[in-house]
Amino acid sequence: MVDVKKITIIKPDDWHVHFRSGKILQKMVKYTSQFYQRAMIMPNLKNPITTIQSGEDYKKNIVNLLKKNSTFKPLITCYLTEDTKPNDIEYAFYKKVFFAAKLYFRNSTSYSKSGITNINTINLVLDRMQKIGMPLLIHGEILDKNVDIFDREKVFINTVLVKLQENFPQLKIVLEHISTKDAVNFVKFSNNNIAATITPHHLLYNRNDMLRTGIKPHLYCFPILKSKIHQNALKKAITSGNKKFFLGTDSAPHYVHRKESNCGSAGIFNTLSSLSIYIEIFEKMRALNHFESFCSKNGPLFYSLPENKSTITFIKRKWKIPKEIVIGRKKIIPFLAGKTMKWAIK
Ligand code: NCD
Ligand code: DOR
Ligand code: ZN
Ligand code: ZN
Repeated sequence: MVDVKKITIIKPDDWHVHFRSGKILQKMVKYTSQFYQRAMIMPNLKNPITTIQSGEDYKKNIVNLLKKNSTFKPLITCYLTEDTKPNDIEYAFYKKVFFAAKLYFRNSTSYSKSGITNINTINLVLDRMQKIGMPLLIHGEILDKNVDIFDREKVFINTVLVKLQENFPQLKIVLEHISTKDAVNFVKFSNNNIAATITPHHLLYNRNDMLRTGIKPHLYCFPILKSKIHQNALKKAITSGNKKFFLGTDSAPHYVHRKESNCGSAGIFNTLSSLSIYIEIFEKMRALNHFESFCSKNGPLFYSLPENKSTITFIKRKWKIPKEIVIGRKKIIPFLAGKTMKWAIK
């Protein structure tokens, strides 16, 4: 095998990221727009993006933080609640305020307390989304005291997603941040209206990394890291070249005091290292030939968007991830803080 030292690909998009609000938002806009051309911005803020007005305001806030010459495009998503109205969703979609809508079950992850409790309460909204071609993005986990935390995704697929797809076969669905072999297989063998995003952390680590030598709060996220069998299934999925899998970092910053706590928050801030991790995984799997599709082609193909025009170049050069990001008087610890990466962006 030749030792590749430089790779140029179409500039990637991040199809799943949490920008938050306030001071964190400034940093997220700065970092993400540096590496990515477009990003699907998740709506689970402390005050969730549930109305057209809040969506418009959020988009404006983001655009105002961009550098003058930036061509970065934020795609705003709507947080589905049991009060979401089909007409509002349709209006906001046609007005291009919302590109997609996000489904969370109540309390299934960070900032999801306005989520829905029963999928049937949003049937009319889903029906309208199917009609107008608006994508449904799903945090695919069941929250039930009787469901083991490591089975949440599998149970979601079997009890909710299978029926959802039967009822709305034309609805475009993205199963976000998949973490299991079950999800890989479900997506692989479903019709072409279902795709999935895969994060750097679910590819790089499994639950042993989080728990084996002490508890690592900065590896704590939802869906929780699974066993190596599942990690390997995700790696195989992205390096197989299957077009249904694409890049979504699920970068989800929380301040350090919220992570290192008696009741730590779930979420990993990986924006800085994300592309270096993905490329390393493709390289190790001897699948660099599929790297560009995963980062920059499969997403736009699924969403019927054009591929980006600009490019990004990776070179084999070591660089160190910062130990912390200071935001005012608070801090965020990035994923892989202090570690050395093999690939840098030129
Ligand atoms: C949180 C905050 O600023 O408190 N951001 C948000 O938009 N909800 C971040 C956090 O607590 O992790
Ligand atoms: O770990 C997670 N954090 N998973 C999610 O789905 C949400 C995210 C967040 O918003 O912090
Ligand atoms: Zn999620
Ligand atoms: Zn997320």
